[in-house]
Amino acid sequence: MNLNIRKIAIIGLLQVMITFLSACSFAETKTSPEASLYQRLGGFDAISAVVDDVVVQIASDEKLGRFWAHRGKDGIVREKQLIVDFIVEKSGGPLYYTGREMKISHEGMRIDNEDWNILIKALKNTLKKFNVPAKETQQVLEFFDSTKKDIVEKS
Ligand code: HEM
Repeated sequence: MNLNIRKIAIIGLLQVMITFLSACSFAETKTSPEASLYQRLGGFDAISAVVDDVVVQIASDEKLGRFWAHRGKDGIVREKQLIVDFIVEKSGGPLYYTGREMKISHEGMRIDNEDWNILIKALKNTLKKFNVPAKETQQVLEFFDSTKKDIVEKS
């Protein structure tokens, strides 16, 4: 009889310990998830600086420059801000993108593969210049690639 009580007490204690340990590991996964890409890139200012640097390169490119020729200064500033907001939102940052979807905003511009490759080359230059680590560089490139089907119209 005494032995049975001890057995029950030990099983009860073990159950309490298991519940406590699993609660601890749950708490750990809840409070320390991997930082978002937004955070790992350095937040709003870093993303904004990257976009500025890329836009300077593509707007002055011999082929790509045609998309920004004869556009008003403020229109370009507005577009740049929308691109920053878009990337901030998609990388897990605290912004709500209020612009148009990629397909709607680029439809009819006849952006081709060559245009796309110039953009990606400029982006890679900038990421290297800003010392963005390999993992984050890869994730940014993958993100851009995910938008390509809605932006490039002919090859
Ligand atoms: C070679 C590729 C690209 C070219 C030539 C291009 C060109 C342009 C141009 C000319 C506009 C202004 C459209 C307008 O005023 O109506 C625009 C808008 C925009 N682009 Fe691109 N773009 C390219 C790729 C991308 C990519 C890869 C992204 C996102 C990662 C992007 C994000 C945006 C956004 C957020 C806007 C503003 C949309 C809005 O006005 O609501 N673009 N783009």
